[in-house]
Amino acid sequence: MSLSIVILAAGKGTRMRSDLPKVLQPLAHKPLLGYVIDASMSFNPTQLAVVIGYGGDLVKKTFSSQNIQWIEQKEQLGTGHAVLQAAPFIEDEGSTLILYGDVPLIDQKKIQSLIKKGQKNLAVLTYSKEEPTGYGRIVRESGKIKKIVEEKDCDQTQKHIKEINTGIMCAPNHLLKSWLKRLNNQNSQKEYYLTDIVGLSIQDNIEVLSESADNEVSITGINTKSELAIMERNYQLMTAKQLMEQGVTIIDPSRIDIRGEVTAGQDVTIDVGCIFEGKVVLGSHVKVAAYSLIKDSVIGDHSMIEPYSHIVESQIGTHCRIGPFARLRPGTQLQNHVHIGNFVEIKNSEVNDHTNINHLSYVGDSLVGKSVNIGAGTITCNYDGANKHPTTIEDDVFIGSNTALVAPVKIGKGATIAAGSTITKDAPPGDLTVSRGKQTSISGWKKPTKK
Ligand code: UD1
Ligand code: CA
Repeated sequence: MSLSIVILAAGKGTRMRSDLPKVLQPLAHKPLLGYVIDASMSFNPTQLAVVIGYGGDLVKKTFSSQNIQWIEQKEQLGTGHAVLQAAPFIEDEGSTLILYGDVPLIDQKKIQSLIKKGQKNLAVLTYSKEEPTGYGRIVRESGKIKKIVEEKDCDQTQKHIKEINTGIMCAPNHLLKSWLKRLNNQNSQKEYYLTDIVGLSIQDNIEVLSESADNEVSITGINTKSELAIMERNYQLMTAKQLMEQGVTIIDPSRIDIRGEVTAGQDVTIDVGCIFEGKVVLGSHVKVAAYSLIKDSVIGDHSMIEPYSHIVESQIGTHCRIGPFARLRPGTQLQNHVHIGNFVEIKNSEVNDHTNINHLSYVGDSLVGKSVNIGAGTITCNYDGANKHPTTIEDDVFIGSNTALVAPVKIGKGATIAAGSTITKDAPPGDLTVSRGKQTSISGWKKPTKK
């Protein structure tokens, strides 16, 4: 049976106090609406419609690559009015699932069974909430749903009902369309309530079914920055739990942030305060120590990331040791057994097996061979103020501390560069190259005295 999905996303979200439309507010770096769209796709709908209003152009632009029917609701006259705008685009056959653009972490299994129930009947996803204030209440008689009453329209007894309307519903298209036409706005908020279709279904002698959610996060909508922060932590805990179920040791699941996708091999350990962004692949036996940020990178088996390292768009081989306080910028490619120490920055460079760059260095646009030792404070001067130039350091080279390699330049295999050199021409293989002022001592030198 064909399924249409309508996502309501027209509201401004005034309480966010933001220029960004509410449904574009980010949860783990992804807009709220993105979660609803991705979950919708998993139900294989024949059609996906999103009702937009406030900031509609920006919302459309954000998801322009997706196959979405955009529907503009010029004035936000209520949830019923919003779905009514989509009605002309919904086919007569099949059923329609209604989702909210600000309820990101829906329970896909529950919604699957709601979809089943919504093939012949109106089916409503409900939830039993200890503190139901603010939500529409489910009014039942002899166990059967009779109507939904909004908080503002509730009498004193109805206020005590704990079963609430999550807003998520599913109904056969021909019935839904006829009900939408019959809605009015005779209520305390002068809005066209979608919830009134429950009463209309009863009028038409069609039983209203329900599915009950068992996890509050899965039905929670977001209206404020505080609610967004609470949802973020919930999402992070869920993500951490998935990784732990795969065998990853997470020292404290309340202190990890995954803003993208992490895949991990066997026996990976992640210490507190780490942030993962984009796509990160961790090999087996990888350790990520405290307060590191890793974005769009691959870390090979048995490699160790020491604390406070910052790694972006980099490929790291096996048995490497990075940090503490290392910075690997885009285009860094480390082979195996490479050591990168504290306050070392690498950019757009390949570093081969068993090479050490242990302290206070900058290596950019370089090709560094095997078993090279780069001394503390070595800088590849890759930028002349206008263009970038490459540096090549061949295998078994030893670069003395505080060396400036002025690119383009090449250091031949097995060469040694004396500490403190400024190298402006290629250094031949095997030789010691010294390029610095000669040391002299002036005897009898008198220290200046205070006048
Ligand atoms: C709605 C339900 C209520 C339910 C609650 C769950 C109705 C009348 N009430 O109430 O029973 O308990 O959700 O959160 O349906 N929207 C539009 N266009 C509009 C109005 C709303 O697109 O004209 C969108 C909003 O952007 C939002 C969603 O629909 O994503 C819900 O709207 P909201 O105003 O928050 O509904 P509630 O009054 O909370
Ligand atoms: Ca709401």
